[in-house]
Amino acid sequence: MEKSHIKQEIHMTEALMNRINELISHYPADKKKSALLPVLHEVQDAHDNWLSVELQNKVAEILEIKPIEVYEVVTFYTMFNQRPIGKYMFEFCQTSPCCQRGVEDLMDYTCEKLGVKVGEPTPDGQFEVRGVECLGACGYAPMMQLGDFYQEHLTKEKIDQLIADCKDGKITLHDK
Ligand code: FES
Repeated sequence: MEKSHIKQEIHMTEALMNRINELISHYPADKKKSALLPVLHEVQDAHDNWLSVELQNKVAEILEIKPIEVYEVVTFYTMFNQRPIGKYMFEFCQTSPCCQRGVEDLMDYTCEKLGVKVGEPTPDGQFEVRGVECLGACGYAPMMQLGDFYQEHLTKEKIDQLIADCKDGKITLHDK
């Protein structure tokens, strides 16, 4: 389990709790656990895009389930982060079709350009690179996810432009 020793401030604001309760209300009263995935997304979005163990425990308490049931989900899906991550997370698909279209060279190029290794944020916390499994956009290989959006048919020139746009604040990360 890739957990962080960094302390995370937990802010279960009224607005966040209202949103969580609304999500829970979509399921039968004795099946609160069914809301786990959307609740984790909401809670992560409200906490700088990561979920400490303490925060995962809080989610378990709200949904009246065991903490291990939350840990199992958080450790399985790469969209949940167990430590603070770079603001601009370049998530390159590393499955065969993207590999055949040169994604590994592009990852190396990106890491070199940013001066980082895979899985290590830049010292200013702005950028990070990681590899993920197939993102279901194989026909647009090589591709990656940046925030909520896919970046497709990647080339070194596109990577250069994306990094420049991130630095200039021109990249939108979320679709809501
Ligand atoms: S192999 Fe890369 S999106 Fe499917």
